Amino acid sequence: MFDFTGKAVFVAGGSSGINLGIADAFAAAGASLAIASRSAERVEAASAQLRRHGGKVLGRSADVRDYAAISAALAAAHAEFGEIDVLVSGAAGNFPALALGMSANAFKTVVDIDLLGTFNVLRAGHQYLRKPGAAVINISAPQSWNPMPLQVHACAAKAGVDQVMRVLAMEWGGDGIRVNSIAPGPIEGTEGFKRLSTPELRQKMASRVPLRRFGTLDDCASLALFLASPLASWITGALIPVDGGWSLYGAGLSSTQLALEAGAVPGRSSESR
Ligand code: HXC
Ligand code: NAP
Repeated sequence: MFDFTGKAVFVAGGSSGINLGIADAFAAAGASLAIASRSAERVEAASAQLRRHGGKVLGRSADVRDYAAISAALAAAHAEFGEIDVLVSGAAGNFPALALGMSANAFKTVVDIDLLGTFNVLRAGHQYLRKPGAAVINISAPQSWNPMPLQVHACAAKAGVDQVMRVLAMEWGGDGIRVNSIAPGPIEGTEGFKRLSTPELRQKMASRVPLRRFGTLDDCASLALFLASPLASWITGALIPVDGGWSLYGAGLSSTQLALEAGAVPGRSSESR
């Protein structure tokens, strides 16, 4: 449906899950892809997946918290592909924990990855973006506007990510750059969904999603393709949920609220990477 032949797309945090699904959809639509995340192994595996579409792919290991490192990855993409047409900022960290079960460093870690990381990606990326014409897409979450227990770090971080999006939509509109956010609801099979729910909680949640199913990688990728396409040429500063209506219920249906009600607050031993 969309043709991105000849376009260059950079996805920060593009080595797995929703972000890789978005990178994959752009690669399938003909774009050249650059992805960056911390793990060299994960970047290599994701690059191999993207190369099967036949286009050019550049993978770089970089931590979005490190301005110099993410700048270098963006510069490498620019050197390889020329001006960047689509910049996706999706790196994030999350774990469920009560505020009182979280150290200051735990809170800072998530804010640094999600919020500072997004600022770094966009701030360093601006010089390499096509002007006019580039589309910037931040990956947000319903935590941005719905407060959720066990999510004080992600709620603060994603709300910040969306304010960065809105301010830069204003500041960069004159350059012909559009800046928007996508807020996925619960997306099946992803790391984020696994971390924030259990099989029992998922059963409780599923029947209460207005569209009666959890989301897929394709649901998120379709919105990203649309936002980067000429069909969205007058859309900027928008935060768009792709969640089957799930967030309309506020935090009441969130897995973390259900966990709190069930007394199933995860301990510090929950998985971490
Ligand atoms: C409390 C925790 C914790 C937990 C880590 N910490 N896990 N505190 N409960 N479960 C604390 C640590 O003790 C440490 O604080 C601080 O957080 C930093 O931990 P590190 O392991 O040193 O951090 P780092 O190596 O930078 O790893 C970041 C990470 C990790 C966020 C902790 O899990 C990670 O890399 N995650 C990336 C993948 C991910 O989270 N994907 C899901 C994204 S989904 P102290 O005080 O001990 O030093 C998402 C939204 C989903 O974002 C929305 C769904 C609806
Ligand atoms: P995921 O697979 O864990 O994706 C996170 C990606 O970010 C990974 O590729 C990870 O790779 C990278 N990353 C993490 N920290 C990084 C850092 N410091 N620097 C660079 N890259 C980093 O999780 P996901 O569930 O698909 O989530 C993807 C995005 O969707 C996130 O922005 C998340 O907030 C959002 N989201 C997810 C859901 C959901 O249901 N899953 C719902 C709403 C919003 P490395 O480990 O190699 O760095």
